[in-house]
Amino acid sequence: MDIIVIKGGRQLNGTVATSGAKNAALPLLFSSLLAQGEHVFDNVPRLNDIDSTELLLNHLNCETQRNGHQLKVNVNRPQSLVAPYDIVRKMRASILCLGPLIARYGEAKVSLPGGCAIGSRPINLHIEPLRQLGAEIDIENGYVMARANRLVGDRIVFDFATVGGTENIMMAASLARGTTIMENVAKEPEIVDLARCLRSMGAKIQGEGSSVITIEGVDELQPARHRVIPDRIEAGTLLLAGAITGGDVKVTNCVPKDFDALINKLIDCGFAVECGDDWVRVKPCDRWVAVDVDTAPHPGFPTDLQAQFMALMTQADGTSVITERIFENRFMHVQELARMGANITPKSQVSVVRGEKGGLSAAPVMATDLRASASLILAALATDGETTVNRIYHLDRGYEKLEEKLSSLGACIERRAN
Ligand code: UD1
Repeated sequence: MDIIVIKGGRQLNGTVATSGAKNAALPLLFSSLLAQGEHVFDNVPRLNDIDSTELLLNHLNCETQRNGHQLKVNVNRPQSLVAPYDIVRKMRASILCLGPLIARYGEAKVSLPGGCAIGSRPINLHIEPLRQLGAEIDIENGYVMARANRLVGDRIVFDFATVGGTENIMMAASLARGTTIMENVAKEPEIVDLARCLRSMGAKIQGEGSSVITIEGVDELQPARHRVIPDRIEAGTLLLAGAITGGDVKVTNCVPKDFDALINKLIDCGFAVECGDDWVRVKPCDRWVAVDVDTAPHPGFPTDLQAQFMALMTQADGTSVITERIFENRFMHVQELARMGANITPKSQVSVVRGEKGGLSAAPVMATDLRASASLILAALATDGETTVNRIYHLDRGYEKLEEKLSSLGACIERRAN
């Protein structure tokens, strides 16, 4: 298994480009199941989660063809409408095939994804709305067994603005009979991207990006060509890498307004940040002050940047209170940061970080989940020694060539086979 070795203490400087968004690409690829024929997706990042999605699509009789960052999906009628445990367990987002399959074929058997390191992650907010649209759903032997004649539009009020739940129902409702009004939906940029793609497939969708989405179902959709939006979490991580080393880093091919919650926090800390339409630059800064962060659904501070921001706060002047409001167990990086000398007190959903510039030291650490691995790499950049990050398969799920991108900015970082 590979490890990443970082020799810290170098200031990062330069320009680096963001890849396509993992969390946009996954639902987009599953949306192809809604229409027979060849779909073309551009700006698809090269990631293990995309490979897992391709594996599931292949299992469902779709042919996939990669050419750099382009991915073609040729959708044929599946021989079996089953998403097996062996594939779903590798990637929870596999549940996103449920909506398309039930809407298009009236049947689906999808393995329950189970819990994961950052929390229990139930799928009730996927299942209940599908029931409301007329699907009969049972849970048997670890599988979601769903059946429907044709889904029928309804008014759905989500208890929580779930990202995946919103996406699954958007896809299902696109082929339902009649109108579906979805209230209290997620407003993430990835939802907006999915709506744009579904619209170019012929879906009648309005309201994406607001808390109410209205979908008038159609009988059939056509394949489309679609470009995946840039990854705002990767862009934010790269910007934080510049910030934590006190460097001058310009991140291009991104949409700063999609992660302005982070940009505003950096400004509150005392960083000078410049933005264009598709780039953002953090300027050199010697000392920064601690600020508090509460994660929240978009446009709030993203939970997917909480761990990385915590690394920055270990180097701040003062005390930062970081509150995680989306997932119940998303502080596993705290123990690893503590092994590097960080002074953090976690309690339930709140972590108190007492910052100290230069207070981190290199240590062997272990990535516990995707964003935690990025947090440990950022922390390692701020030490003077050599840090080894183990279990980086988490990183490979969601960051495309992070070590190469950081290296191009002057970091001393390499991947080694262990
Ligand atoms: C997506 C992102 C993930 C991000 C998260 C929150 C993808 C592939 N993943 O995950 O990176 O961290 O949004 O921004 O896009 N919940 C329920 N019942 C449900 C569904 C969710 O209780 O049926 C709860 C979850 O346990 C969690 C909260 O709602 O506490 C948010 O989850 P959700 O927005 O659904 O996240 P995901 O779509 O899984």
